[in-house]
Amino acid sequence: MSENHRTPVTVIGLGSMGSALAAAFLAAGHPTTIWNRTAAKGAPLVARGALPAPSPAAAVAASPLVVVCLSTFAATRAALEPAAAALPGRALVTLNSGAPAEARAFHAWAVERGARVLCGAVANVPSAVGAPDTLLCYSGARAVFDTHGDTLRVLGGDTVHLGDEPDLAALYEMAVGSALLPALTGFFQGAAALRSRGLTARSMVRFSEKWLDMIKSLLPVYAEEIDRGDYADGASSVNLFLSAADTDAALAAETGVDTSWLAPLHDLVRRAVDAGHGEESVAALTEVLRKPAG
Ligand SMILES: NC(=O)c1ccc[n+]([C@@H]2O[C@H](COP(=O)([O-])OP(=O)(O)OC[C@H]3O[C@@H](n4cnc5c(N)ncnc54)[C@H](OP(=O)(O)O)[C@@H]3O)[C@@H](O)[C@H]2O)c1
Repeated sequence: MSENHRTPVTVIGLGSMGSALAAAFLAAGHPTTIWNRTAAKGAPLVARGALPAPSPAAAVAASPLVVVCLSTFAATRAALEPAAAALPGRALVTLNSGAPAEARAFHAWAVERGARVLCGAVANVPSAVGAPDTLLCYSGARAVFDTHGDTLRVLGGDTVHLGDEPDLAALYEMAVGSALLPALTGFFQGAAALRSRGLTARSMVRFSEKWLDMIKSLLPVYAEEIDRGDYADGASSVNLFLSAADTDAALAAETGVDTSWLAPLHDLVRRAVDAGHGEESVAALTEVLRKPAG
């Protein structure tokens, strides 16, 4: 019988994301210990060879690399408090979402207890875990990343260490993630408008994909403008976006779709015009966002 030389891994937290992480480690042949507050959620993983630990302390003690994916940093700390004696020397990796300040506080707490800590973030959905282009960002102990990078790459091929400051992954997750709800709500609004005419949301997908490709192509251009603080290229101006507000109102009147979620965005555009950015590139909205309102 051949010996398994893959690094033993512990996964704590078996919600949607944690279960996907544990499944990826199992699929890659890593001896995988699991713990979850609600133990029953581990049953499908145990059926695939995972080793259930009776407590967080036993789970931490079982492997040199411990990946934790609970809902928040507060929950992570609550779950690991009783396991503190097992933390010294462990490589501890968090993959929950949270604010940068929470990441810093958790990192300090765990380092004080002797763990070597990476605070990470999964920039995708559970079904994408393990895919070659799935992005996971980490920040904190570079040595942990260097030692366990190959194991962590099992979770996603696009695996990045952002720097030693432990809150960078949380900061980038929030910065990048802030586009998610507005983009999806815009898609849902469009789908609602089509449904009101008896058309399918599916009929829109090909065109929406092109639209998002166009937005994607603009990101490096706008990033340059923002970093230079130069918004002189007004080909897509703030004024243009102000006039589009009327189109949104017309769509609401014609289809009965609720477009009220756009009101704060229209207000933002108006404030940019009031501040003198009307003829400038729409990226000048960044300057308004950087200043406290009112
Ligand atoms: N799902 C996604 O699409 C996605 C994508 C990117 C990032 N994330 C992030 O990944 C993290 C986990 O998300 P998820 O979707 O896996 O959430 P979830 O399905 O709701 O699972 C939450 C997990 O946290 C545990 N938990 C919560 N409070 C706890 C406490 N006080 N003590 C012990 N365990 C506790 C739950 O245990 P029980 O099972 O006992 O309730 C469960 O294992 C979140 O920070 C989320 O933002 C999720």
